[in-house]
Amino acid sequence: MPQNPGEHTMSFRMSFLALLYKSWIHTELLIDYPSGYAHAETFKSDDFIDDVDSLAKSEKTSRSKTKSVVEVGGLEEAKERIRQLEAKLRSLDARIPRAFPDVTGGAGFVGSHLVDTLMRAGHEVIVVDNFFTGRKQNVEHWTRHENFELIHQDIVNPIFIEVDEIYHLASPASPPHYMYNPVKTIKTNTIGTINILGLAKRVGAKVLIASTSEVYGDPEVHPQPETYWGHVNPIGPRACYDEGKRIAETLSYAYAKHDKVVVRVARIFNTYGPRMHMDDGRVVSNFILQALRNETITVYGHGKQTRSFQYVSDLVDGLIALMNSNYTQPINIGNPIEHSIEEFAFIIKKLVGGSNPIKRTKAVEDDPQRRKPDITRARLHLNWEPKVSLQVGLQRTIAYFRQELQHSVGGIVKGRSIGNRKEDLNPG
Ligand SMILES: NC(=O)c1ccc[n+]([C@@H]2O[C@H](COP(=O)([O-])OP(=O)(O)OC[C@H]3O[C@@H](n4cnc5c(N)ncnc54)[C@H](O)[C@@H]3O)[C@@H](O)[C@H]2O)c1
Repeated sequence: MPQNPGEHTMSFRMSFLALLYKSWIHTELLIDYPSGYAHAETFKSDDFIDDVDSLAKSEKTSRSKTKSVVEVGGLEEAKERIRQLEAKLRSLDARIPRAFPDVTGGAGFVGSHLVDTLMRAGHEVIVVDNFFTGRKQNVEHWTRHENFELIHQDIVNPIFIEVDEIYHLASPASPPHYMYNPVKTIKTNTIGTINILGLAKRVGAKVLIASTSEVYGDPEVHPQPETYWGHVNPIGPRACYDEGKRIAETLSYAYAKHDKVVVRVARIFNTYGPRMHMDDGRVVSNFILQALRNETITVYGHGKQTRSFQYVSDLVDGLIALMNSNYTQPINIGNPIEHSIEEFAFIIKKLVGGSNPIKRTKAVEDDPQRRKPDITRARLHLNWEPKVSLQVGLQRTIAYFRQELQHSVGGIVKGRSIGNRKEDLNPG
């Protein structure tokens, strides 16, 4: 075992690069090589390159092996071909991913979209998830990809892997899910976060903590800037989540100060999009499902309480921009366009079509009255702001829910369904 964690990461990265070279050469050479040359086992990648260190050696070998090619195609042609291959290797080298991220909670709604973007960018990604609210289905399209690994683990237990970056998203996020077992929610956000920060400290990884606008509680300041300390009820029904996330932030900065762990803190505001949980009691999913099922659309309380919703791809862009930035203070990632809950009900009803009535029902306890991010910091330090309009985002989400309902049995989606009890429902 190397003494120095950085050294460990480097040696791992080297073997990782070797693997990439190998696989790329397989595909690139065999695809590009003209049949006149490809026939010669001469360029079989397995004996061509075994690891990065042998690259120079193998170059020599390949030159000697070109003899058989020379006989077929002529010396100049072969030399030209070798030059082209060397140029191709250099360009492939430039494409080698520099980061090796781990996404805790990567099988969840937000995590799975983040995984999609990271995988498409060519990173090697490890997802760690206990599938409490996440679904294998959300990432199953990557499971056979060589750059992807899925680890079934609860982050309340320590984890030992080698990574460069950690997106720490593991935590139930919607009220019925986090209230289902408040003690477990607290453990996930405290012990789990300690385990993740401990891992980051051991391997020298950068960590992004998915915090939440809930750290502002029921805010007295509007819109909410990051400098606002919040208005949280420490013993209310939401406290397990709100206080859990607040301590997760505190832990992050304690590790940053004491152990020099590089941390990023994203305060995420309400997010919606495909793969969000059906029946999890959040306002967007509630309204869409009620509209699609042609049921009464229920608005809790007077309906004048406001929310601002961001589309999931905007959030993913913001998280990646934050991870790649040098900004160390908490940063709001959300859409500042605010609508009342009642307006949302009308917009969704109109987009789905149908004639369902909209009805007001009893207000829920500790339901924040106003929520709107001040995103000045994100604009300034990340050059980020949301791009997807509510209309477009809702249409994509409605299409997803419609499809899910078609695949469900009798309108109830198969699989775990915590939080579809009436008393769980709590918009936001
Ligand atoms: N979606 C939002 O609107 C929103 C808003 C604010 C903050 N966030 C934060 O973003 C993150 C992702 O939220 P989401 O909406 O994708 O939620 P989600 O419930 O879809 O995903 C959470 C994932 O974490 C996993 N998980 C939960 N506890 C775990 C544990 N102990 N060990 C390992 N895995 C565990 C779940 O199985 C799931 O895959 C959360 O940390 C949440 O607090 C989300």
